[in-house]
Amino acid sequence: MDGPAASGKGSLARRMAQKLGYAHLDTGLIYRAVGVKLIEAGGDLARAPEIAAALAPEDLARADLRSAEAGSAASRVAVIPEVRAALLDWQRRFAHRPPYGAAGAVLDGRDIGTVVCPEAPAKIFVVADPMVRAERRWRELRETDPSADLKTILEDLLLRDARDSARAAAPLKQADDALLLDTTNLTIDEAVAQALSFAAPRLSGGPEASDPVV
Ligand code: CDP
Repeated sequence: MDGPAASGKGSLARRMAQKLGYAHLDTGLIYRAVGVKLIEAGGDLARAPEIAAALAPEDLARADLRSAEAGSAASRVAVIPEVRAALLDWQRRFAHRPPYGAAGAVLDGRDIGTVVCPEAPAKIFVVADPMVRAERRWRELRETDPSADLKTILEDLLLRDARDSARAAAPLKQADDALLLDTTNLTIDEAVAQALSFAAPRLSGGPEASDPVV
């Protein structure tokens, strides 16, 4: 599952994984963890590949990865091909051998359908109107930061979208065989229902389209 910032792909991926009994990997967290660790190490981008290569599972459990600063740092390290290469095997292993014996995995990010798992049986590209995305992110951030400002968030999302789409290494792009799902006017339940009716019949060994997964 891929899509721009705050398009709804994270909640959707989590809910789909629950419904299907699959493992879920938010690959954005990996880039956020590299970005945050780089800031702590002084911010020299040349050190990002070595930080990515040494990333440990507990780094993804940090409480500060959801901040706007972490998102922005993530998109700056994510343009570096050596950083992406260092994180690729790890993501592929998760997809092919999901933890806890799960029968499958849902990964969400920017390049899952195009680079990490081009062979995935079900790909979804999630989009939404930029203002709706900014409002969603504002509501999330406001819970921990009462000073979160909608205009600044919108500017940050647009900047990040531009950087993610324009970069040479694994840019944000819809895979040819991905379903385009626009969540602008959908509730999360409606988005989950549409995503599952597309994905379920494509998942071998998974629930059939007629199974009551929703
Ligand atoms: O939650 P949100 O959609 O705002 O962002 P995220 O999924 O946590 O990703 C943060 C940043 O990491 C993105 O802006 C991308 O630059 C980068 N990223 C990436 O390059 N490739 C991925 N598979 C996932 C994230």
